[in-house]
Amino acid sequence: MAIWFIHEGREYIEAPRWADIGIVIVVLGFLANVFFTAIKGKRTGIITVLIADLIALAGLYLAGMGFTDNISMDQYWWWWIIHLWVEATWEVFVASLAAFGLIRIIGASRHVVEMWLWIEVAMLFGSGILGLGHHYFWIGTPEYWWEIGALFSALKPLPLVAMFVHVTYDWGKQQGIAKAEGKGSSVTNVPALTWFFTNAFGNFLGAGVWGFFHTLPQVNIYTHGTQFTSAHGHLAFYGAYATILIGMFYIAIQKANKIKILKATFDFKMGIVLLTFGMLGMTIALTIAGYGQVLVERAQMGATWEAYFISQNTLWFVQGLGWRFVMGIMMVVGFVYLVKDLLIIAKIPIHERYTSSEIEIGVEMGHKLPSLAR
Ligand code: HEM
Ligand code: HEM
Ligand SMILES: [Fe+2]
Repeated sequence: MAIWFIHEGREYIEAPRWADIGIVIVVLGFLANVFFTAIKGKRTGIITVLIADLIALAGLYLAGMGFTDNISMDQYWWWWIIHLWVEATWEVFVASLAAFGLIRIIGASRHVVEMWLWIEVAMLFGSGILGLGHHYFWIGTPEYWWEIGALFSALKPLPLVAMFVHVTYDWGKQQGIAKAEGKGSSVTNVPALTWFFTNAFGNFLGAGVWGFFHTLPQVNIYTHGTQFTSAHGHLAFYGAYATILIGMFYIAIQKANKIKILKATFDFKMGIVLLTFGMLGMTIALTIAGYGQVLVERAQMGATWEAYFISQNTLWFVQGLGWRFVMGIMMVVGFVYLVKDLLIIAKIPIHERYTSSEIEIGVEMGHKLPSLAR
């Protein structure tokens, strides 16, 4: 009864069964929408990757819909969704959005962008699928997962570095071209590009660096399930996913309002700075709290029940969480600026609009955007 109507009791995917079925229907609807749009238009590399990825993403969700009362087996399948979503299918989704965005925002060449995309997809799936092993160290799965998990998950930062290099390289290259042509800049959407750049860096830092910190079993035996995990989880989610979606919102606003060049507003700057530095501060605070926990609860006191409570009262832990609260407030203020900016940015008269003759030949419809023509 509870599973059907209230919740499934599993972290992140606690949706009750009726909502599960709803989620599957919505994802399939989304997939169908992308698919039928794609077969009507140009079948580009980006759209092909996106469709294949969405099929995998929807399919994986089914792994979490079965029920077993054996906790090891339940966790085994649960990680298929949690890990294979965030470290394989969602990352590929992000790579597709970034590829699309770079063509849109800075007029990067589709040829170059798609070449990068294929490399990134191969690396993401290559390291992400067996990287699943870094969650199979302590849940009752066979010990060979130690080696498999350590090796493949340690490779995971590579595609994230590649994605960062890709964005930076394309941006630098397009700026160079624009300069040589005597134009000031190639950027048609400053807020979106800034968010995309934050994404490339945040993904590398939160998932790549903070993930790598605790991915080897020799380290993870101490850090498993501490505030350290929470530090990584927060920076990775924000860096890899929140940022790119906000960037996409700005692209949508630009298109919906037929703006040629979307410029940075004060609210946009406040939003991105407060949110990003709030999140970085929160991550550092949680890392310090986690470090105290690892030292006292795990290393010194051997992970007993009593040790858990003693470590929760140590100075580093208490002060770390105090700072986390302060940084959380900073993020909330940043969030208010962001929402305000998203609502009003299109109406602020600093952007470059299309001339009436450009509108006449249909440039603003997106087919012949100056940045796309190159
Ligand atoms: C954007 C990508 C990523 C996101 C959103 C993400 C998010 C998370 C979250 C939320 C958890 C906590 C799960 C739980 O509740 O137990 C977690 C755990 C973990 N992540 Fe990631 N992660 C990402 C990428 C990575 C990468 C690339 C690595 C390794 C290089 C990594 C290594 C780990 C490890 C080892 C754990 C287990 C921590 C523990 O034992 O407590 N993650 N991740
Ligand atoms: C004002 C900012 C935020 C505050 C105060 C906050 C607070 C919290 C708290 C108290 C927890 C429970 C930690 C625990 O069980 O020990 C948590 C978990 C989590 N939060 Fe946040 N959060 C914030 C922003 C975010 C953002 C922006 C994201 C994603 C983009 C996020 C994703 C998560 C995830 C994935 C977990 C589970 C992590 C784990 O189990 O290790 N949070 N958060
Ligand atoms: Fe993982």
